[in-house]
Amino acid sequence: MDIIARRPGPSVQEVFETDINPAPAVMREESPAAGQTTADVSIERYFAREWHEQEIEKVWRKTWQLACRLEHIPNVGDHVVYEIVRDSLIVIRTGPDEIRAYINSCLHRGTMLRTEAGCVNQLRCPFHGWTWDLQGQLKIIPGQWDFPHVDKAAMNLPQAQVGTWGGFVFVNFDADCEPLDSYLENLPEHFSAFNLEDKYVAAHVAKVMPCNWKLAMEAFVEAYHVPYAHPQVLGYYGDSNTQYDVWDGVRHVSRMISVQGVPSPAMKGIAPERTIEEMRRDVPFFAGKPIEVGPGETARGKLAERAREKISRAIGRDMSALSDTESLDLIEYMLFPNMVPWGGQALPITYRFRPYEDDPERSLMEIMFLFSKAPDGSHPEPAKMTMLGPDQNWCDAPELGSAAMVADQDTDNLRRIQKGLRTSRKPGVTLARYQESRIRHYHETLDAYMAK
Ligand code: FES
Ligand SMILES: [Fe+2]
Repeated sequence: MDIIARRPGPSVQEVFETDINPAPAVMREESPAAGQTTADVSIERYFAREWHEQEIEKVWRKTWQLACRLEHIPNVGDHVVYEIVRDSLIVIRTGPDEIRAYINSCLHRGTMLRTEAGCVNQLRCPFHGWTWDLQGQLKIIPGQWDFPHVDKAAMNLPQAQVGTWGGFVFVNFDADCEPLDSYLENLPEHFSAFNLEDKYVAAHVAKVMPCNWKLAMEAFVEAYHVPYAHPQVLGYYGDSNTQYDVWDGVRHVSRMISVQGVPSPAMKGIAPERTIEEMRRDVPFFAGKPIEVGPGETARGKLAERAREKISRAIGRDMSALSDTESLDLIEYMLFPNMVPWGGQALPITYRFRPYEDDPERSLMEIMFLFSKAPDGSHPEPAKMTMLGPDQNWCDAPELGSAAMVADQDTDNLRRIQKGLRTSRKPGVTLARYQESRIRHYHETLDAYMAK
């Protein structure tokens, strides 16, 4: 294996070897990036208007991207409006087993047909009343006598492609795109243990970030920044022995695994009691009756045990066989271009990042929590998205719990990164060979799309 300089401390795989409930096969894979360059990554991609325009054509109009969850549109006529830079789609359930994505523009004079989510039995333009049925066929032209030159049958609403995986609905503007199944590469196989399709959106918070969408995403896909940006977690988070996986020939997917319930390898001589205390301080999930560590027991083992109890109670199913890693760890995947779904059962997060309006120097970041449905498949209404205002922090969304403080720490840095890149006289950013290998992999894929 072209293994790169070995990080200090026990590896993720070595931690798994001492776990009480063993990790599933996909978690025992280790695939450090091989054959990557060490060249700097050009910085104009983070602010230049020309790059942004090319990204619209070559990335946002060519790739599969997350539009919504299935539970957002359970009934015929239910829809959301998905916006990406200057494009807008009505993602609508048109039949019990059919979802379509219509270009959100009236074929009379261009008015947006829908501006928000809802349920309709037809699509009627508010300006002059042209009306399409759910199959996208033009049914009504008020004052039809004045449009002898319009062939109604030729006025079907144009569509984008739609696909689903794991309870997520994806869209792609490109009629000739690669099928979603092959685009997802090894993601479905890896998530087969994590049953995302049995979850629903229990919390959903968004904030306009003061930076390019890629900068925002990059801050959430490496743990190299943890000791300086989030020092509070070092007692229970194995930051520098995080495992980063980039698979040979896989373009759109990468992964990192950070073990929790063990201290950072940089923190020497941390007693298990302190690891437990600090994890309980930051993660209310572990609150409740005291957690004692007996002889021969570990903080990680005890925390995994507590997590399994809590997860079992929350789901209403016995989860006592769940692996320690799925109970505790940060298991984070990335799907090009902008989705970051987490695996396991402990941290049911999905992030999405995209440009905000038409501005390459701002982005919309969303944090979704996916909780398990009841054993009979029932679940509460999916959470409405909380849009934080310009003067609000992630901490103003109490539903995010301890994830909010971490996101606020990252947001402060991101403001400085965007401004810092603007004043930089260095033409590229320099990346770590291992710990930032996912970022490099992601830019390799981005560059390949941009070169098409
Ligand atoms: S613009 Fe839609 S009906 Fe006129
Ligand atoms: Fe961070």
